[in-house]
Amino acid sequence: MSTIQFEHNEKAARLIAEHYEMPPLAYVHSYGCQQNVNDAEKIRGVLADVGFGICNGPEQADLILFNTCAVREHAEQRVFGNVGALKGLKEKKPGLIIGVCGCMAQQPAIVEKLKKSYPFVDLVFGVNSIDRLPEMICDRFEKAKRVVEMPGERTEMRTDIVEEIPIRRDSDFRAWLSITYGCDNFCTYCIVPYVRGRERSRRPADILAEFKALVAAGYKEITLLGQNVNSYGKGLEEKVDFADLLEMLCQVPGDYQIRFMTSHPKDASRKLMDTIAAHDKLCKHLHLPVQCGSDRVLKEMNRHYNKAQYLELIDYAKKTIPGVTFSSDIIVGFPGETEEEFEETLELVKKVGYMQLFTFIYSPRTGTKAAAMPDPFTHKQKADRMARLLKAQEEIAFELIGRQVGSTQRVLVEGHGRNEGTLNGRLDNNLVVEFTAPESLIGQWAQVKLTSARGAILLGELQA
Ligand code: 5AD
Ligand code: SF4
Repeated sequence: MSTIQFEHNEKAARLIAEHYEMPPLAYVHSYGCQQNVNDAEKIRGVLADVGFGICNGPEQADLILFNTCAVREHAEQRVFGNVGALKGLKEKKPGLIIGVCGCMAQQPAIVEKLKKSYPFVDLVFGVNSIDRLPEMICDRFEKAKRVVEMPGERTEMRTDIVEEIPIRRDSDFRAWLSITYGCDNFCTYCIVPYVRGRERSRRPADILAEFKALVAAGYKEITLLGQNVNSYGKGLEEKVDFADLLEMLCQVPGDYQIRFMTSHPKDASRKLMDTIAAHDKLCKHLHLPVQCGSDRVLKEMNRHYNKAQYLELIDYAKKTIPGVTFSSDIIVGFPGETEEEFEETLELVKKVGYMQLFTFIYSPRTGTKAAAMPDPFTHKQKADRMARLLKAQEEIAFELIGRQVGSTQRVLVEGHGRNEGTLNGRLDNNLVVEFTAPESLIGQWAQVKLTSARGAILLGELQA
């Protein structure tokens, strides 16, 4: 653990107060996963600490930060497009500070491109530098220069965990809580281990302290985050695994439920399933990405499990946890994946019966092993397979969702529904239900009778 550099916070606050007549505004936009959403909350916390107000759009902002994702090329292109679109705004408002941070900023080639082709970008920094933002802002004001921070440039690739970063949460009833950072799995298609570095677990005492503070503040849903939560505890002095951590958190008294993501099947244990079954506070839903259903492709992906082992785990969960539901990530068109291998994925998807699938066409990432593998199939072939997968999944999901109709379930009310006067809430199994109810229920529990299903959305009636 290292200590946040508070002297830069004070100096940044002073420089900001001197520089602006009115308190300046910051807009932080996040792409990609929940870890990034949680990081953006920390970025806003740091910015608020040094005197920025937070705004919800780029127009009024004095500082715009894009917290980026590098998992697929499409996400990167969107970022470049959105950054490019700020050029005009900067011309109108030369004092505007524009920054790019997060996973893309960990890649040397991307940083070079930003340096060369986007001269109006002032700050570029990676995922482990959030606490150093005040220092970078000081440099920006004092030396009037662009600040580009890369692992190995100003600092080594940091592997420590900074616990004291202030946080400004997006919601006052649902919270993200990171328990591990980085990833050691090196799935051959994935850039994450390269950009987020080695896996590190937070100490149980630090997690417990944050968790208790959230419960005390009235948070109703706490989602534990990590690239692979199931390997929690590796490298810690204490002998503790993910199931132990859940067990410990469930002992905290209060009115809340716990979710977690992402579970890697290779590390998901029977002990974990038993723990989920034993505690009401743990949602009966597992996001357990399988990626594909062919043993050969799983091996090529370096996933360390085969189809039979995965299905055995699912069976055990179904037997042990009544009403459990599953969701998964699937990659279509991994290099060399044949038609027959894709059909194995289709078959597995049908066998498991996922409530939700997050499906991706394989996107080559420079520097990963898979990017160097021969890939004879065309994008059109992959897109066709994707369409077939989506169609199969739609039928499965509609069937499963339809089966919920008629039951009355507890939901956490999250916000406004699509239709006027309606709210939406999430069931324990992660499905969304829409129902008519007063706005004051947002952030509260409600009992809702599920009356019908429209696509993936359930409709319901609020029960007294
Ligand atoms: N191409 C397509 N999908 C990918 N994912 C990770 N890397 C890639 C890639 N190169 C998907 C995986 C992972 C999810 C977060 O993103 O399915 O589980
Ligand atoms: Fe990427 Fe695999 Fe790590 Fe998930 S477990 S972040 S897919 S390398």
